[in-house]
Amino acid sequence: MHAPLLLSLAIGLLTRTVRSTPIKNFESKCTSFASDLSISKYSDFKVTIAEYLPAESVLNVTAEGRDASCAFGGYNDPPPIPVNLCRLGLTVATSSSSEVILETWLPEKSTGRFLSAGNGGSAGCIQYPDLAYGVSYGFATVATNNGHNGTSSAAFFQAPEILEDFVGRALYTGVIVGKDVTKQFYAEDSCKSYYIGCSAGGRQGWKAAQTYPELFDGIIAGAPAFAWTGSLAFLGRALTDLGSNTSESWIDAEHFAALQSEVLKQCDGLDGAIDGILEDTRQCHFDITPLLCAKNFTGACFNQVQANIVDKLFSPFIVDGQVIHSGLSHGYESAFISVLTGPLAEPGLQEWFANVVYENRNWTLANFSINDVRTAIALNPYNIETIDSDISAFRDLGGKILHWHGQADELLAVGNSDRYYDAVKTTLNATSTELDDFYRYFRVSGVNHCFGGPGANALGQLGFAARASDSPEDSMLSRIVEWVENGAAPEFVRGTKFVNDTPALGVEFSRKHCKHPAVNVYRGTGNGTDEEGWTCVE
Ligand SMILES: *[C@@H]1O[C@H](CO)[C@@H](O)[C@H](O)[C@H]1NC(C)=O
Ligand SMILES: *[C@@H]1O[C@H](CO)[C@@H](O)[C@H](O)[C@H]1NC(C)=O
Ligand SMILES: *[C@@H]1O[C@H](CO)[C@@H](O)[C@H](O)[C@H]1NC(C)=O
Ligand SMILES: *[C@@H]1O[C@H](CO)[C@@H](O)[C@H](O)[C@H]1NC(C)=O
Ligand SMILES: *[C@@H]1O[C@H](CO)[C@@H](O)[C@H](O)[C@H]1NC(C)=O
Ligand SMILES: *[C@@H]1O[C@H](CO)[C@@H](O)[C@H](O)[C@H]1NC(C)=O
Ligand SMILES: *[C@@H]1O[C@H](CO)[C@@H](O)[C@H](O)[C@H]1NC(C)=O
Ligand SMILES: *[C@@H]1O[C@H](CO)[C@@H](O)[C@H](O)[C@H]1NC(C)=O
Repeated sequence: MHAPLLLSLAIGLLTRTVRSTPIKNFESKCTSFASDLSISKYSDFKVTIAEYLPAESVLNVTAEGRDASCAFGGYNDPPPIPVNLCRLGLTVATSSSSEVILETWLPEKSTGRFLSAGNGGSAGCIQYPDLAYGVSYGFATVATNNGHNGTSSAAFFQAPEILEDFVGRALYTGVIVGKDVTKQFYAEDSCKSYYIGCSAGGRQGWKAAQTYPELFDGIIAGAPAFAWTGSLAFLGRALTDLGSNTSESWIDAEHFAALQSEVLKQCDGLDGAIDGILEDTRQCHFDITPLLCAKNFTGACFNQVQANIVDKLFSPFIVDGQVIHSGLSHGYESAFISVLTGPLAEPGLQEWFANVVYENRNWTLANFSINDVRTAIALNPYNIETIDSDISAFRDLGGKILHWHGQADELLAVGNSDRYYDAVKTTLNATSTELDDFYRYFRVSGVNHCFGGPGANALGQLGFAARASDSPEDSMLSRIVEWVENGAAPEFVRGTKFVNDTPALGVEFSRKHCKHPAVNVYRGTGNGTDEEGWTCVE
């Protein structure tokens, strides 16, 4: 049915034969195609965009009316179109009171593969960089607005259908519609189907593996926002404990920086390299005593109330005997202040409880207590927790999942990924070696939430993130294809640290991140920048 794969490890998927029957008059087919379109599972849809985009063209989605909040940080902005493609925009009703806006990008030179991208935060934003990443590798690629517009979750207020889309149905709908459109356009089924996402998108990847196991052959799930309620509750408790930024309990940026320096002093060398990166955050048993305020102390010292808060931040959060959050991991303390004071924590938290948990917009964080956590956990709408550990259906269908989490993630704790991995192991009664057949987990050192950080953070893990090359060693998207189609399962994922995180400035160092449960140990010389000096040790 499909041309044989001509893959070699070095050049990876770039050599895969393009489909045997190239589309004639691609440009005119793109614009005429929409009028013939029918979608078998969804009768209520409309085509809003059908345009041919040549390589190098530039989209202005602001001018097209995208929700202004989606411009946040530039993370969702479209890069220049990488290859000639057909852009198809659709609005698909998922119920009488909800709809998903999606785009399918169909490259002229297709490899016959299908890719779905995910979303981020509470975001109802199409992630254009992921669309561009997918088509640059010849995937027919779909991305959706996740059922609402913009970064606010206010749309969920008394709108269960929109909430259901957000939790999982929008992803499902995008994939079913995207595959159908792709099949009609190229006149053949996609050979393999993939997913890439981080944060909320990492949770969506797990939602697929748990609930829609037939959707994908290969999934990349980064820094998943699973244990959703626990993650929100953890922030709620932290903000409540810290109080106002003028109180004695508040911990400011200077104190978090002092904390990080002391952590590095105590723990940086544990992995054999003094490089500002902890290879295994679990080995750092931090002692705050040297930072406690004393008469002769100069600099940012911690009073006992602050010290107790630090202890809680880095310990599991237990409610009624259940761990609902792993606690943070050490080594990136400076970044946590931006979570506490940034746009994600308090608004996201407040909106969730006000719009979803209580459907009472008068609710504020001032009203937060442990009973709210209990209420939210009991509610768990549409199973947003996404921590079902029985993924045997996905395994039995032959799916592969590459789960990764930055150990310097300031927003969603790597420990929650650890807990999930352990839960799957227990539920499936499997050893790590057995899980390796279909589920591989990477605790990636020195990477912040989804990208950035002091470590080798460029892994091709998202369209927004850089990568050193397109080879499977440097690009997660190539990696998952190699695993699914050639059985070349990842023993490591290699990251690259670019100078100032800017590829144009060159490579500072690269590092192979070990497959859990192995951890990196440095036996080389110097400060750890020698990639070959590192060894994965169990
Ligand atoms: C995109 O469109 C908006 C609104 O029309 C405009 O303000 C903006 O300058 C445009 N951006 C570019 C890069 O052309
Ligand atoms: C998103 O925007 C579209 C119009 O662009 C609108 O039809 C739809 O109702 C919006 N979705 C929500 C959940 O508000
Ligand atoms: C403290 O919080 C207030 C309002 O919440 C803010 O305006 C102010 O900038 C903050 N101060 C510092 C030092 O962060
Ligand atoms: C403060 O004094 C104590 C006892 O005199 C000493 O052990 C400690 O090292 C001093 N700390 C600093 C920060 O100088
Ligand atoms: C919210 O507060 C307003 C004004 O204080 C009040 O009129 C309204 O009834 C409150 N709504 C709810 C749901 O409590
Ligand atoms: C929140 O707390 C304030 C006082 O702390 C109270 O006046 C208000 O009614 C509470 N609101 C809700 C929605 O519980
Ligand atoms: C788990 O697997 C082991 C080894 O295969 C087996 O001996 C044991 O009976 C299994 N336990 C359960 C509860 O299935
Ligand atoms: C590590 O060592 C290399 C080579 O000696 C040097 O170029 C680099 O600046 C050092 N990096 C750090 C973070 O100290």
